[in-house]
Amino acid sequence: MSAFRDGLLEGRTAFIAGGTSGINLGIAKRMAELGARVAVAGRDPEKARRAAAEIGRGAAGYSCDVRDYAATRAAMEQIHAAWGPMHIVVSGAAGNFLAPAAGLSANGFKTVVDIDLLGTFNVFRGCYDLIAKPGASLIAITAGQAVNPTMLQIHACAAKAGVNQVVRVLAMEWGPEGVRVNGVSPGPIAGTEGMARLAPNEAVTKAITGRIALRRFGEIDEIAESAVFLCSDSAAYITGTILECDGGSQLGDARNPMERA
Ligand code: HXC
Ligand code: NAP
Repeated sequence: MSAFRDGLLEGRTAFIAGGTSGINLGIAKRMAELGARVAVAGRDPEKARRAAAEIGRGAAGYSCDVRDYAATRAAMEQIHAAWGPMHIVVSGAAGNFLAPAAGLSANGFKTVVDIDLLGTFNVFRGCYDLIAKPGASLIAITAGQAVNPTMLQIHACAAKAGVNQVVRVLAMEWGPEGVRVNGVSPGPIAGTEGMARLAPNEAVTKAITGRIALRRFGEIDEIAESAVFLCSDSAAYITGTILECDGGSQLGDARNPMERA
């Protein structure tokens, strides 16, 4: 159930890097429903085309690898040329897999850091002179792993910790120009590629949900609502924050210690 009124994002343009599937596609769809003109990008051009068609309402799909600054910048220049300054930029592209540190190659570590962290820098740095000032809202999609050390995800933990700091530094540097920079930190979200990788069977799923305060996975739509809030006028005085939309996951293990003993 959404609290947002129809037309909330009318007249705004949004670019969602990594918006061709999963959580980020959900964000793109919700922003389009609320009136924004939306462009999404991923590596696979056919997937980007399909995502744009699924979003409808004149959405555009672009192909670029966020690890490649020039390609990412070129996609955003095309959006700017077609639609003018961007009001909303979401950096959501990510890669992840489970691997013990002792079994992870340097290139495996670098690959995830490059997609998540360098990619977020590339998207935000690349859009700097293509966004509406004052008024633009930048949002990074981060994760609880940024704060909570998580076994088998040393690469993603390091990358997302860096993403949180990118958010905070840019909020300080670009705030004087009227640009807000925030993060959304989803908990485990049902039906996503991320959870297919991190919770590959029923037993792991049960173990994870049993420790979450709200005792369930989140929904893609719930993350979309958080992203919409952060880019809406209701959040006009919010910058440099990481909004945890995670059912309380960041609080830690929410099992009753008396029952555990
Ligand atoms: C160990 C692995 C591995 C695995 C890849 N590598 N998968 N190492 N275990 N399961 C290593 C490879 O051996 C290689 O190192 C290096 O990583 C690069 O692999 P490539 O396949 O060449 O990389 P690339 O084609 O660029 O693909 C990137 C990818 C891939 C991350 C590996 O899985 C991908 O495209 N993922 C995007 C989709 C995704 O991950 N979605 C989930 C996001 S969810 P060597 O040394 O052999 O060359 C998410 C959850 C949030 O982020 C919570 C946590 C933050
Ligand atoms: P997903 O469906 O795998 O989406 C990843 C998106 O990023 C796709 O559009 C993908 O398209 C694109 N992408 C991947 N690598 C890219 C690259 N190098 N350059 C450009 N685009 C790239 O993932 P998801 O599970 O929904 O996760 C989305 C976001 O939420 C991520 O930032 C993730 O870390 C975060 N998150 C997810 C969960 C969860 O429960 N799933 C929890 C916490 C945080 P291509 O493959 O075509 O490139």
